[in-house]
Amino acid sequence: MQNELKLIKNVAENELENISTLFELENFRIKFFGKNGKLTLILKKISSYEESERPQLGKVANLIKADIRKKIEEHKIELEKKEIDKKMLSEKIDITIPGKRKLIASKHPLTIILDEIKNIFLNMNFSVEEGPEIEYTEYNFDFLNTPKNHPSRDLTDTFYIDKNILLRTQTSPVQVRTMLSQKPPIKMISPGRVFRRDEVDASHSPVFHQVEGLVIDKGITMANLKYTMEIILKKIYGENIKIRFRPHYFPFTEPSAEVDITCFKCGGIGCRFCKDEGWIEILGAGMVHPNVLKNCKIDYNVYSGFAFGLGLERIVMFRYGIDDIRLFYENDIKFLEQFK
Ligand code: PHE
Repeated sequence: MQNELKLIKNVAENELENISTLFELENFRIKFFGKNGKLTLILKKISSYEESERPQLGKVANLIKADIRKKIEEHKIELEKKEIDKKMLSEKIDITIPGKRKLIASKHPLTIILDEIKNIFLNMNFSVEEGPEIEYTEYNFDFLNTPKNHPSRDLTDTFYIDKNILLRTQTSPVQVRTMLSQKPPIKMISPGRVFRRDEVDASHSPVFHQVEGLVIDKGITMANLKYTMEIILKKIYGENIKIRFRPHYFPFTEPSAEVDITCFKCGGIGCRFCKDEGWIEILGAGMVHPNVLKNCKIDYNVYSGFAFGLGLERIVMFRYGIDDIRLFYENDIKFLEQFK
């Protein structure tokens, strides 16, 4: 028995010397001290010896046990230290390596100009309202006095989800929502995304942005509309432009007008850009139709108002000389970077 114990001690010491990882060390511990470990099994055998021999055997066994345990502990500390050293070496920070450059995003050109437009209106005491892009057909068409047979209602022009719900074709339903939820005086703009079934080309996209405006108060006339349009268009395009109102038709305004500005390329003489017209169409506007006021529970004998809607993409394209609307939605960094 004593010889057996010594043999185990020798084997253990030899094996221990060759152990180089904490994982191996744990396996080693189990091999000797585990439930079926070599030492555990030997210790169990002591009880089968003569009683007179047992104390001596027990003493030797315990000494060897303590000795191996101690060696395991020492080896463990050593291995842990080595592991830390290794880690420190592999994770060493080289402070001379040049830093990684962080790409800082910039505002999208549509956002830059929209912020500018919002600011102009906020300074004139307008509020900024929002409405859903998925809209009731009623709010997009019916409340806005759109005849049942109006071409814009057509399936070929509008994305319907079902008969009663569609992707809004204009930001005008936000007028309706605002009139239904607020009392006059109302002075608001509602910028947002709109959807129409257009084929994509350099100047058309099925998704684009409008900024709608609405003013409702007592005694609002066409003069207020003209004055407001003049102020904001001059702020956007420069003090030198002239403005022209052309009669037009919108179901929700009467009278209605399309508003042109003198071509900012040629100053109105006529050039390739304005197709020799000297004028560029810029927005739709008009006096809110009494039917719309009635639909929105506003007394049209007391209140009147004007509304206008402008296309954001067009303004941004003019401002920066962008000749293809698709560039706005392609997320090409080379394009977007130019607006930092
Ligand atoms: N909603 C109209 C359009 O999409 C624009 C508009 C708005 C015209 C408000 C008049 C008044 O074409």
